[in-house]
Amino acid sequence: MEPEETTTLRVSYDRVAKHYVEQIFNELEHKPLDRALLDRLADDVRGSGPICDLGCGPGQVARYLSTRGVDVFGIDLSSGMVEQARQLNPGIDFRQGNMMSLEDEPESWGGVAAFYSIIHIPRDEMVDALRGLMRVLRPGGLLLVAFHLGQETIHRDEWWGEEVSIDFLMFEADELDGYLKAAGFEVEETIERDAYPDVEYPSRRAYIFARKPGSSSAASKQMPI
Ligand SMILES: C[S@@+](CC[C@H](N)C(=O)[O-])C[C@H]1O[C@@H](n2cnc3c(N)ncnc32)[C@H](O)[C@@H]1O
Repeated sequence: MEPEETTTLRVSYDRVAKHYVEQIFNELEHKPLDRALLDRLADDVRGSGPICDLGCGPGQVARYLSTRGVDVFGIDLSSGMVEQARQLNPGIDFRQGNMMSLEDEPESWGGVAAFYSIIHIPRDEMVDALRGLMRVLRPGGLLLVAFHLGQETIHRDEWWGEEVSIDFLMFEADELDGYLKAAGFEVEETIERDAYPDVEYPSRRAYIFARKPGSSSAASKQMPI
């Protein structure tokens, strides 16, 4: 049975899904660094398995990745978000799911883009969540995770006029680095930037590239078979 906190979060995102589309769906037009990092993820993973847009919201990251010629799909806890993603991005597969209990086949994903979705994972569950990603990633698979830098948790009871109950957790880069390593990832690079003014919430952000150990996609693509 779904824990009460998960239901509350899911229903909250269901309520704001249409507003989220209006406010955020086109955001990547104004975020050159995010596009460059997604290009890098796509170039690394292309041809070695699908990329999951994890906690996809209305699917703008999946949509961008699909324009880079990679096989992509999306998973989100909120069925309201999944409905928006399907309407906005026909041709891309989106489904409801919880990153804490992924049912996908082991080693079936080439990569993961998790943009601002781990911000809802409690600290004491983060390593388990990341171990779940390790399980579904192929050896050499690449994770790109984006989050807000900080130590605090911001709670909201109202968002765009809707009644919600959502905790937004911030993490220091070193802290997430530790969780990734504890789950078995090799951390390759951490990139930080300030918020783009007038485009997004005014927090400093971090992006981490972390890889599941094993033969890299580049190496396996060079094999003559
Ligand atoms: C802040 S939004 C980010 C959406 C999108 N990735 C973006 O960058 O705009 C967080 C999303 O993560 C989803 N989410 C939260 N917890 C999740 C979980 N345990 N499994 C899957 N999705 C989750 C929410 O439903 C929501 O759509």
